[in-house]
Amino acid sequence: MRPSVFINVAISADGKMDTVERKGAGISSASDKARVLRLRAGADAVMVGGHTLLDEDPKLTVKTAELREERRARGQPENPLKVGVVTRANLNPEGPFMNAGPAERVIFTTSQTTAAQVAILTELGAQVFILGEHKVNLHEALEILYSLGVRRLMVEGGGTLNFELLRAGLVDELYIYIASKIFGGQSAPTLAAGVGFVEGEALPLELLDTCVLDQEGGVLIRYRVNNQISDRG
Ligand SMILES: NC(=O)c1ccc[n+]([C@@H]2O[C@H](COP(=O)([O-])OP(=O)(O)OC[C@H]3O[C@@H](n4cnc5c(N)ncnc54)[C@H](OP(=O)(O)O)[C@@H]3O)[C@@H](O)[C@H]2O)c1
Repeated sequence: MRPSVFINVAISADGKMDTVERKGAGISSASDKARVLRLRAGADAVMVGGHTLLDEDPKLTVKTAELREERRARGQPENPLKVGVVTRANLNPEGPFMNAGPAERVIFTTSQTTAAQVAILTELGAQVFILGEHKVNLHEALEILYSLGVRRLMVEGGGTLNFELLRAGLVDELYIYIASKIFGGQSAPTLAAGVGFVEGEALPLELLDTCVLDQEGGVLIRYRVNNQISDRG
């Protein structure tokens, strides 16, 4: 069994989720940030990929007292469980991912993470699971999250993790905010990176909703992922 999974991503009008600098460029408008916070507050867990985790060290918390109170009133912890998928879990023990909260933290990693680093993270209260040698086994990761009580998982990038989850047939919905700006750049990351699909393998999406989200011309699109076509993972 696995949780229901949705990806939320913000992209430029040319489909880039960051500039070529890869420093986590601002894409979302104020309205979109508020929407993302509400989505996060409605999730049991929030997942990011290794490059996003190590380069940006995100907090992944619910940033308004009102939304945290709503979670408490529903009997949930005030922040969703934070999840990292990372080949070598060299996280900063004093950084925001490990410390902003309170929040449970789960790290899925590979045998490339040293025992000493696992011990550091575990001592700080994180649960660390070794799921593979080269890449994290995402099917197993989602099964573990389900066993930990996660029923609704929000994925917040980056592009490599998004693609691998999509390829494995593990994503149910996509929320895409498109900002009215162009980033350009061949090496700027897109919302689904990895090796990509060849034409005949393209993953079909079903349009659920579209709306103009803000006065800046930002547009929100929501798709259901059609996973009927067999697992590509
Ligand atoms: N606009 C947005 O909504 C948004 C949101 C988040 C991130 N971003 C941007 O996305 C960029 C980072 O994305 P990214 O594609 O470079 O990296 P990523 O998806 O954050 O991390 C992927 C890395 O995680 C590790 N990993 C281990 N097992 C994996 C598995 N089974 N599947 C996938 N990854 C696995 C691998 O690290 P190794 O290569 O070390 O093995 C892989 O390269 C940044 O520029 C960031 O700003 C944008």
